[in-house]
Amino acid sequence: MLLSTLLLTALLTPVLAVNFEWEKIQLTEAETRNYSAIRFGGEGPVGPNVKCKIIPGDTDWPSDVEWARFNDTLGGALLKPLPLASPCYTGPLYNAARCEQLKRTWSSASLHSDDPISIMSQWASGNTCVATSNPDSTCTQGGYPVYVVNATTARHIQLAVNFARNQHIRLVIKNSGHDFNGKSIGGNSLSVWTHNLKSLTYHPSYTTSDYSGRAVALGAGIQALDGSAAMRRYNMTMIIAGGSTVGLVGGFFQGGGHSSYTSYYGLGADQVIKIHAVTADGKLVTADAEENPDLYWAFRGGGPGTYGIVTSIIVKAFPTTPITSSSISFSTVPTRPNATAISIETFWAGLREYWRFTPKISEAGGIGYNFIRHTPIPGTDSSGFTFTTSISVPNTSTAAYRAFVRPLLQSLNDVGIPLTIPADAVQRFATFPPDQPQAVTATDTDTNTPAALALGDTVSNTLIASRFFTLDNHASNTTLEAMHLAIRDFVSAGGYTFHGIDYTPSLARSGHPSNAIHPAFRRATTHAEGYASDAWWDGQTRVVPAAEQAARHTRLQAYMQKWRDITPGSGSYMNEGDAQEEGWKDAFFGSNYARLAGVKAQWDREGVFWAVGMVGSDAWEVRGSSGGGREGVVTQDGRLCRVGGA
Ligand SMILES: Cc1cc2nc3c(=O)[nH]c(=O)nc-3n(C[C@H](O)[C@H](O)[C@H](O)COP(=O)(O)OP(=O)(O)OC[C@H]3O[C@@H](n4cnc5c(N)ncnc54)[C@H](O)[C@@H]3O)c2cc1C
Ligand SMILES: *[C@@H]1O[C@H](CO)[C@@H](O)[C@H](O)[C@H]1NC(C)=O
Ligand SMILES: *[C@@H]1O[C@H](CO)[C@@H](O)[C@H](O)[C@H]1NC(C)=O
Ligand SMILES: *[C@@H]1O[C@H](CO)[C@@H](O)[C@H](O)[C@H]1NC(C)=O
Ligand SMILES: *[C@@H]1O[C@H](CO)[C@@H](O)[C@H](O)[C@H]1NC(C)=O
Ligand SMILES: *[C@@H]1O[C@H](CO)[C@@H](O)[C@H](O)[C@H]1NC(C)=O
Ligand SMILES: *[C@@H]1O[C@H](CO)[C@@H](O)[C@H](O)[C@H]1NC(C)=O
Ligand SMILES: *[C@@H]1O[C@H](CO)[C@@H](O)[C@H](O)[C@H]1NC(C)=O
Repeated sequence: MLLSTLLLTALLTPVLAVNFEWEKIQLTEAETRNYSAIRFGGEGPVGPNVKCKIIPGDTDWPSDVEWARFNDTLGGALLKPLPLASPCYTGPLYNAARCEQLKRTWSSASLHSDDPISIMSQWASGNTCVATSNPDSTCTQGGYPVYVVNATTARHIQLAVNFARNQHIRLVIKNSGHDFNGKSIGGNSLSVWTHNLKSLTYHPSYTTSDYSGRAVALGAGIQALDGSAAMRRYNMTMIIAGGSTVGLVGGFFQGGGHSSYTSYYGLGADQVIKIHAVTADGKLVTADAEENPDLYWAFRGGGPGTYGIVTSIIVKAFPTTPITSSSISFSTVPTRPNATAISIETFWAGLREYWRFTPKISEAGGIGYNFIRHTPIPGTDSSGFTFTTSISVPNTSTAAYRAFVRPLLQSLNDVGIPLTIPADAVQRFATFPPDQPQAVTATDTDTNTPAALALGDTVSNTLIASRFFTLDNHASNTTLEAMHLAIRDFVSAGGYTFHGIDYTPSLARSGHPSNAIHPAFRRATTHAEGYASDAWWDGQTRVVPAAEQAARHTRLQAYMQKWRDITPGSGSYMNEGDAQEEGWKDAFFGSNYARLAGVKAQWDREGVFWAVGMVGSDAWEVRGSSGGGREGVVTQDGRLCRVGGA
């Protein structure tokens, strides 16, 4: 009976041209007729405005029986996961050995990316359950969801969207959990976990109305490491994140998506030629140049977790595009016995020369990947500075590469930094990143720094802030000097660590896409991040009180203001920025905000999707969280309510 009904409905429902078999498994109207909790959203008037999402304990929260019925409808795909660190706490799950193992591996990205709810930037959960050495403290669900749909079909996602919307339950989406701001979790919520939607199909030739060439279809759970494997298997290049466990179909392309090819092929968002997504009404739609072009525009750069749940995308692919790369480093601290160190003034003079060079990296289609770190001086309480950068240029011979970096080395030599790049330190990689995610290979005369881990390569408790320095900052020696001094002040006086990625995803290099990428991003020369080198919200060893969290956040933002002051009209990369920055609308979306807000209002009339710092997010707030919410720091361990709603 069930089967024949499903079959009949399947025959009557027009079949969307989707990428994967599991996208053909869809929820039908017929199934919803005797089960109002899973009905689709209508075209009609929106029901009464609910002031707050409902949470466990509220009279309207579904009973266990109702959750069990929902689980049956899902075919058993409903999970109720406890926080990853639960074995560290007294109770039935206590397991000393497992806890020790968790503590040892806590900084591993895959531990968290493979878990249904855990995330990298743990502070956003409210740190209510961390891998503690104090088992008598308490572990609560905090900012983590209550229930999770372990999605393996489009139908699972449609059911989750409909159930959450109809019951007024907060809905969140977790893919890999890399988001720095807690956008992939939410307290008291139902989560859609996309991690197991792992399909990938390579199309040697694929044609749409505005594209003809290689393409790859990616399921929502595909990560960068799956992308690298496909590049090797099919002998092609596609745009993937540097961090091997970062998802490609979630935040990466929806927020921007930079890679080693950003100045050569553009951003992740620029590669997408077709999108399939479940929208707030529970329907699976196509968004491309012909169908739903407004949604197609918004999804590509307009921010993740806002317009719908993407099930799969099709992206452009390119012939194998090798990259030539090496790194240089200089320091005021001798990092090896007998090595010579440079003075602080020489160090900063070297930085000035580096900034002067960065636009040339973009012009060559390349990328600089740099850090300015505080380095302890052995045997003292003080520290100096170390600068490391790896410069990579696609489709270049090693000889041409060496000629390209020679003027930079010369100018560094001229200010008193005796750098050379040994011949064997320049490497050419067929695919990038190569098998090992960190590709820093070269050494210089003074240091032998191992591969520099990026911020977020390990699980961290750091709030970051960022800003694009643009071609405007390179317009004259005066503007360049202002940029140089602002960065120096941020590091020297502020005490923060600096991480810059030097690239320019210009419209010309990106193939002139019409998408929602912040216009300032197109003129960026350095995506500059600053962060506190000490852990801010380290719930493992100490709990930082809400007031202190807020004060640290305010301090970082005060330093960031000095960057904003000299970058008028510029912005910040939403995937590696501070969602609580006061001017987030301008910073993340710029002149696109109003149009994006229109798309959001049209496609999500009831506020099904919410993520901090994203379009329309100021209509809601998290109340009762440990971070203090709007008055302090936005952590997810509270109740989502309409601003002004009682
Ligand atoms: C170690 C590390 C390395 C990084 N490297 C890079 C890099 O090289 N380049 C770069 O551009 N960025 C990089 N980032 C930033 C990265 O792009 C963001 O963290 C991004 O949000 C990750 O997306 P995700 O889907 O994997 O993660 P998640 O945290 O799971 O999700 C991020 C956001 O996307 C939403 N989302 C997830 N899946 C979907 C979906 N199917 N439909 C709709 N919304 C969805 C989530 O709800 C959330 O709002 C890095 C971050 C880290 C921690
Ligand atoms: C509801 O309808 C579906 C088919 O559309 C059927 O499989 C299911 O058994 C029905 N459930 C109840 C409780 O009647
Ligand atoms: C959902 O059903 C499956 C299969 O019956 C079961 O294993 C799982 O525990 C259920 N989930 C919840 C949250 O009860
Ligand atoms: C999620 O579903 C997949 C596919 O059915 C299954 O292999 C996996 O074990 C499930 N994950 C969890 C945590 O239950
Ligand atoms: C892979 O692609 C490159 C560039 O298109 C080509 O030169 C090379 O021969 C290809 N290798 C294989 C094994 O097909
Ligand atoms: C590499 O550069 C050559 C010469 O400019 C060009 O013909 C070729 O298309 C480029 N290859 C790729 C993959 O960009
Ligand atoms: C450092 O210099 C001293 C004195 O010249 C020498 O004895 C020692 O071997 C050197 N150490 C290293 C590691 O080169
Ligand atoms: C800018 O500074 C560089 C290096 O000091 C110098 O060569 C150049 O002439 C200056 N340009 C102008 C316009 O002053």
